[in-house]
Amino acid sequence: MVLGVRLSPEDFGQAKGLDLDETLQVAQWLVEDGMDLLHLSLWQSALNTTKRPDAHATTLFRSAVGPATRIVVAGKIWTLAEGEAQLEHGADAIALGRAAIANPDWPQRAVLGTMKYPPLTAAELQQRGLSATFISYMAKFKGFVAE
Ligand SMILES: Cc1cc2nc3c(=O)[nH]c(=O)nc-3n(C[C@H](O)[C@H](O)[C@H](O)COP(=O)(O)O)c2cc1C
Repeated sequence: MVLGVRLSPEDFGQAKGLDLDETLQVAQWLVEDGMDLLHLSLWQSALNTTKRPDAHATTLFRSAVGPATRIVVAGKIWTLAEGEAQLEHGADAIALGRAAIANPDWPQRAVLGTMKYPPLTAAELQQRGLSATFISYMAKFKGFVAE
């Protein structure tokens, strides 16, 4: 069994809880307890951390968990360069949310540079396989669904 845990080290005001340093400590404890994979939800992976503007979260978590724990990073990754930047910071893999919802053929589009960026119309999203319910859910994400 592979044990993975998802942590959001900075809340961007959406939740109040653990801060960056506390989350680094939690990640270390999780490694001691047998975590194999850490999934970091950064929301804006291109940015350094708010608490330490000279440091990137992926680098900090790589130092905290050591070389054996796999790290996956998510957060506004659209292009190959943005994904590769996370690998350079110490991630083993990237995760895509909105980029893959808008571009189910992301690998091809990333290579060809034909990425479709939001806003997408409901018709375009339907074409990409989203149900009406999912399209109305995606409208909660500002700027994703064209009005
Ligand atoms: C439709 C949708 C549903 C999501 N649901 C969850 C969730 O239940 N739990 C969670 O931790 N993150 C959730 N997220 C956040 C994503 O996992 C991801 O961290 C975030 O969207 C940033 O990645 P992105 O910029 O590639 O979308 C959701 C995102 C989207 C777009």
